[in-house]
Amino acid sequence: MPSARSRLSSPRFQATSIAVLVVALAVFTWMTPPHAVVLHNILHHLNFLPFMLAGMLFGWRGALKTVVFAAVLQIPSLERHWHSAPLDAQDQVVELSIFSAAGLIAGVLADRERLQRKRVEATQLEMEGVYTELRANIQQMKKTERLTAAGQLAASLAHEIRNPLASISGAAGILARGQATLANREECLDILMRESQRLNKLLTNFLDFARPRLPRFQKTEPISLINAVVALAQHSAVGHQVTLREEMSSRLREIEVDAEQIKQVLLNLILNAVQATEGAGMVVIRSADSQDRWWVEVCDEGSGILPEDVDRIFDPFFTTKDNGTGLGLAVVANIIAQHGGEIRCRENGEGQRGMTFRIELPFDRSQRVAGKPLRREAVTL
Ligand SMILES: Nc1ncnc2c1ncn2[C@@H]1O[C@H](COP(=O)(O)OP(=O)(O)O)[C@@H](O)[C@H]1O
Ligand SMILES: [Mg+2]
Repeated sequence: MPSARSRLSSPRFQATSIAVLVVALAVFTWMTPPHAVVLHNILHHLNFLPFMLAGMLFGWRGALKTVVFAAVLQIPSLERHWHSAPLDAQDQVVELSIFSAAGLIAGVLADRERLQRKRVEATQLEMEGVYTELRANIQQMKKTERLTAAGQLAASLAHEIRNPLASISGAAGILARGQATLANREECLDILMRESQRLNKLLTNFLDFARPRLPRFQKTEPISLINAVVALAQHSAVGHQVTLREEMSSRLREIEVDAEQIKQVLLNLILNAVQATEGAGMVVIRSADSQDRWWVEVCDEGSGILPEDVDRIFDPFFTTKDNGTGLGLAVVANIIAQHGGEIRCRENGEGQRGMTFRIELPFDRSQRVAGKPLRREAVTL
């Protein structure tokens, strides 16, 4: 059963109400004695109501029909009035014409508004269609991308493993023949050790990347976290003749992160910075927080990144180093994504050498959607 509200808004009910109003006004006007001037005046002005209503609800055509209908019904009263008070009757005709014009104008405006609403609705429908199509395309693309990425990953891993394996089997072959000199044997053993370590490092990093575990969030003190990482990186820094300097706000708020993962992130960034700076330089680790974010920057004095490489540094297996795995930044990007943060890198402009890598993590854990990075980009100045 239709509700009272829907009955009220049905066009048939509205049209009937307007017609009833017009007829009632005409009947009352006819029944009111001619000398009751005030009452006549009021009834007369009330005609404004059906004209405007018709215009607003049914457009200018509706207003015109109502005006004609009312005029026909009012003719007998007007004619009677014309004989008793011609001036007053003329006034009434002029007023009725003005009311009619107002009703028609309201109708034209209402028509225009309805047309615009229809256009907006049509556009909205079209947009919804485009959006659904786009989403389907994106899903498809993601699927294809995942498949290609898996294939690429497998191919790259195979390629990375082949070199150390070739060295190992070469060295093992020489040892197996048993004719090598002492020096050769030592060299072979050295190759076996070095290359198996390299394979081990490659596989550890690869597993970190390919099977990232979900972060275990716990309240963490940022300053002690950074201090711990800097202490860890100190050995490598000394080896590369690089000084590590910390520039941190004296107070940093606690943040919920997976401390081990964030340590791994910072260690990867600092080691990259140290390796890039190599030989009498400085790596600065800056950190501060804002209302909703904690950020850390690792700034080095290395030779920077070539413009053509900037877009590839986060790709797995992209490396420019002889003994690099190219997985460090890929792991970093994964962890930051799982923390709902951002990582960016930029050149240190203004005549300074080197790069700055910056990570930002939100304090509010609700902003963290696992696996969805807020942003991950490399910026060249
Ligand atoms: N601070 C830096 N300065 C210059 N180049 C960098 C820096 N950090 C990373 N890179 C570049 O990005 C590449 C990928 O880094 P990463 O993923 O850590 O792998 P790896 O260190 O094993 O090469 C590096 O080989 C290097 O070319
Ligand atoms: Mg690295």
